[in-house]
Amino acid sequence: MSEKKRAGFLYKRFEGKVGLVTGAGQGIGRAIAMRLAGEGAFVGVLDWNPDTAGETVEIIRSAGGSGIALQADVSQSVQVKERIDKLATDQGQIDFLVNNAGLDRPGGFLKLTEMSFLDVFKVHILGAVNCCLACAPVMISVGDGRIVNISSIYGKVGTKGESPYCTAKAGLVGLTKSLAREFGAKGVRVNAVMPGLTATPTIKEMMHPKYQEAFVRETPLSRIADPDEIAAPVAFLLSDEASFITGAILEVTGGWGM
Ligand SMILES: NC(=O)c1ccc[n+]([C@@H]2O[C@H](COP(=O)([O-])OP(=O)(O)OC[C@H]3O[C@@H](n4cnc5c(N)ncnc54)[C@H](O)[C@@H]3O)[C@@H](O)[C@H]2O)c1
Repeated sequence: MSEKKRAGFLYKRFEGKVGLVTGAGQGIGRAIAMRLAGEGAFVGVLDWNPDTAGETVEIIRSAGGSGIALQADVSQSVQVKERIDKLATDQGQIDFLVNNAGLDRPGGFLKLTEMSFLDVFKVHILGAVNCCLACAPVMISVGDGRIVNISSIYGKVGTKGESPYCTAKAGLVGLTKSLAREFGAKGVRVNAVMPGLTATPTIKEMMHPKYQEAFVRETPLSRIADPDEIAAPVAFLLSDEASFITGAILEVTGGWGM
């Protein structure tokens, strides 16, 4: 599907809603931002790369949607709170938060340093915590909000050579379930999606085709995902159709790692 076509998605489940998507400058985050905007939401497109965040907003606007680029490093709590407070003040609310920003520091465990772990934890765990700390009070104040954390199937099954990443993604499951319990009675639902291998710029650049082919061979649906195929279940979890779902960890893997 072309980027323009998916930004112009026809259903309008999110008219009048305001969402924030982190790491939305490319890949899965961009697809989620476009999906939410295509369904009528105003989207805060947060990324530490202002150029790619701006490009996502351009695509959204050119398809008739609305949103704003927000430059911040999710691991920096002061920056994050400033951007989110401004978004909430300008738009009057924040209905959705998608914690998607991520990076990897691959390497065999015995070659890794404490810093490799901290770098990854800072973005995935602290980043999600910072965004939840800034968004949840706004959601709780109106008794309604929806949060989706983007974990990974590697957070369930682990893999060789990516222990910081797998540990962080498993940590997001703990955060998701804890906040689902803590915020449920306050009207805020918290869920997670575990994607399998997805064709994003980072995967295309970093993952050798022979590893991608091995993945495909082990995947019941015999292919890797398009970012839109991750965005769609995220949109579902954010929507009213998922009104009785919280604390769920949804695997979106084409059957890999089930
Ligand atoms: N692509 C896959 O196969 C796959 C599979 C499972 C899970 N995931 C997860 O999905 C999410 C998106 O993956 P992707 O492949 O689209 O990644 P990507 O590398 O293509 O995009 C990640 C985005 O996050 C931004 N980002 C990174 N660190 C940041 C920070 N500290 N603050 C703000 N922005 C930051 C980057 O600039 C980039 O725009 C990640 O959390 C990733 O771990 C991806």
